[in-house]
Amino acid sequence: MTSQFNKKSEAWSARFSEPVSDLVKRYTASVFFDNRMATVDIQGSLAHAEMLSAQKIISTEDYAAIQRGMAQIQSEIESGQFEWLLDLEDVHLNIEKRLTELVGDAGKRLHTGRSRNDQVATDIRLYMRNAIDQIADFLRALRSALIDLAEKNTDTILPGFTHMQVAQPITFGHHMLAYVEMFSRDTERMLDCRKRVNRLPLGAAALAGTTFPIDRERVARTLGFDEVCYNSLDAVSDRDFAIEFCAAAALIMTHISRMSEELIIWMSPRVGFIDIADRFCTGSSIMPQKKNPDVPELARGKTGRVNGHLIALLTLMKGQPLAYNKDNQEDKEPLFDTVDTLIDTLRIFADMAGGIQVKPEAMRAAALQGYATATDLADYLVKKGLPFRDAHEAVAHAVKTCVEKGCDLSDMSLEELQTYSPLIAGDIFQVLTLEGSVAARNHIGGTAPDQVRSAIVRARQKLTL
Ligand code: ARG
Repeated sequence: MTSQFNKKSEAWSARFSEPVSDLVKRYTASVFFDNRMATVDIQGSLAHAEMLSAQKIISTEDYAAIQRGMAQIQSEIESGQFEWLLDLEDVHLNIEKRLTELVGDAGKRLHTGRSRNDQVATDIRLYMRNAIDQIADFLRALRSALIDLAEKNTDTILPGFTHMQVAQPITFGHHMLAYVEMFSRDTERMLDCRKRVNRLPLGAAALAGTTFPIDRERVARTLGFDEVCYNSLDAVSDRDFAIEFCAAAALIMTHISRMSEELIIWMSPRVGFIDIADRFCTGSSIMPQKKNPDVPELARGKTGRVNGHLIALLTLMKGQPLAYNKDNQEDKEPLFDTVDTLIDTLRIFADMAGGIQVKPEAMRAAALQGYATATDLADYLVKKGLPFRDAHEAVAHAVKTCVEKGCDLSDMSLEELQTYSPLIAGDIFQVLTLEGSVAARNHIGGTAPDQVRSAIVRARQKLTL
């Protein structure tokens, strides 16, 4: 016990007269989750040491020793040989302690002009920058898969729904491009968040800055940050960039969840619009006929935990006085789980979307039920001079008769149709077809196959963003 205490006590040493209990040690430690920041922690330390040496705060020999030690530590971590100690609390102290073991006093000089408060804030930002770049790539992959699926289905017609009731015919390509729009805004949001992530807190030290003649801009350049954080208190205490990231992540998952909900409905045997490749589904242990859409269902479920992480971080922040408080250590698990959940979900969805098998006959059959072209009939009458409200009323009467007779508008004879309005002529039957209906919505943002083809070109161009 005493020897373990001695090991740990090197971080704050003589001030303490008794060791913390094992329970408190476990309670306060973060090493078993923050060690995923090891590589960025080393990267940050090397940039700091390089600056200390350039500013003649440490010697070039010390800097060389730190470089050597860190290279060794990095390879120990990569090969799984590095021994993470709970006694050393977190990733920062574990690495610093090992550095001192390897290179002696040079290791002890690394922390000059720095605190774990600005160190950890820097690490999180570096970690998040990498995560955001990966997320943006996976979002692009998902968008690309959905665009490909849209391209195969520019002319595939299905019913569009409002209130879960058949509304108007649309093309499946158009429906897929709706998600492409969402995921493209999600990409923009992530890249915008990256701008605020990419600022350097290091140099703020514990909270007030440091008495050493540091060069923060040099460190920012070395680490690829766009600029430094301009207030030392703010630099160590706010996690708004992480909250913003979690909000963007929650929106992505919300889009994924809505898409999942549709995939689940479409795959239900009663609807049968699509099939999802077997490798994304599972069977039932009791009902042999089942093929369950587990991946979309889980994604819908996991959206709850990502939304929860956003609330966790907001709540973590709201009561903290400036500057750093240990509360902030609790930012990591929600953040890391958000990153993991999001990356896995996006990767799986990009793969799954590419393999969605569309069943055009089932879609078409559904679009032929529910008077999907009633609006087209009303629009036709308007184009012949009837005010829209009157046209709406005339068509409502026609639909009422069809419901009673159990037939479609297009099943009525011309004479029958004309009883609802004398403006109806023989050209109405083309208007009432599904193809006529979608082709007529021929403007930017409309569902006409020609528009979907142009939208695909635009969406592909935007993939570079
Ligand atoms: N593990 C800590 C964290 O994640 C590092 C900063 C500790 N700073 C302190 N003053 N105790 O926030």
